[in-house]
Amino acid sequence: MVEVSGIAPATLAALIALVRKHTGIAMSERKSVLLERRLRPRVQALKLASYQAYLDMVEQDHAEVPHFIDLVTTNDTLFFRTQQVWDYVEREFLPAWWHAHPGQRLKIWSAAASSGEELYSVAMLCEEFAAAHPGFSYQIHATDISRQILALAREGQYTGRSVVRIQETHPEWVKKYFRPSANGLRVVDALKKHVELAQHNLLTPLKPARQFDLVFLRNVLIYFDQEHQHTILQQARLSMASHAIMIVGESESISGRNTAYQLDRPMIYRME
Ligand SMILES: C[S@@+](CC[C@H](N)C(=O)[O-])C[C@H]1O[C@@H](n2cnc3c(N)ncnc32)[C@H](O)[C@@H]1O
Repeated sequence: MVEVSGIAPATLAALIALVRKHTGIAMSERKSVLLERRLRPRVQALKLASYQAYLDMVEQDHAEVPHFIDLVTTNDTLFFRTQQVWDYVEREFLPAWWHAHPGQRLKIWSAAASSGEELYSVAMLCEEFAAAHPGFSYQIHATDISRQILALAREGQYTGRSVVRIQETHPEWVKKYFRPSANGLRVVDALKKHVELAQHNLLTPLKPARQFDLVFLRNVLIYFDQEHQHTILQQARLSMASHAIMIVGESESISGRNTAYQLDRPMIYRME
């Protein structure tokens, strides 16, 4: 195996600039150990002698860019992450939306969907709601910048802490919405058929623009500086219906960043 020494300061600065160019993510120089850990296996697999050689490759070879994006993005997620959000969706959002839009199809966007736990969590809540409310239907559009992570979301195969989490939070739904798979659980097709997945960079316009009723933009704004957060919020607004709700992550707040979003309660925003 090729031994690769640490990232030289000039290479680090150039890699950070490249991360920002391709994803918008603002990475600080303090993240050099993290970057090194993530890039090292790829540098070794390509038999390159240094991180500078890898930097040159990403700059010159467009085919390497998606791999680079896969490596530098953080994809942590869980089923039913932050329970109070799911209580809100189940007990307040769905009944209120159905009351206001009888007969219509609910349109949901899981932006920055990662490996899909978030979108299948909302799909399970929608299935339960549909069972109790004949005529209710829904569609989930799920996007992420990382192609590799989207492929996992599309497969819907889960292992490790994702499986532990769903078994802990919703043991009764494991049998209903999952089947055993080689190393864990696989989401049933009945959930998948409501989902479409597409690669999308949140800094760019969603094409075609949609009018979503409910948008999950959770645990992703934290990776961007203020300027890019503002751009993301502006872009997202263009794909939201006037009555839409946006849900952000526990450590995120968009108050004051964009006046189109009005705080309803922590993590939940309404359009003005
Ligand atoms: C920490 S995960 C959040 C997953 C999920 N929303 C949740 O809250 O559990 C952040 C995701 O944002 C994605 N991401 C990062 N930059 C992005 C960008 N510019 N456009 C779209 N997705 C991006 C990453 O690939 C990653 O899957």
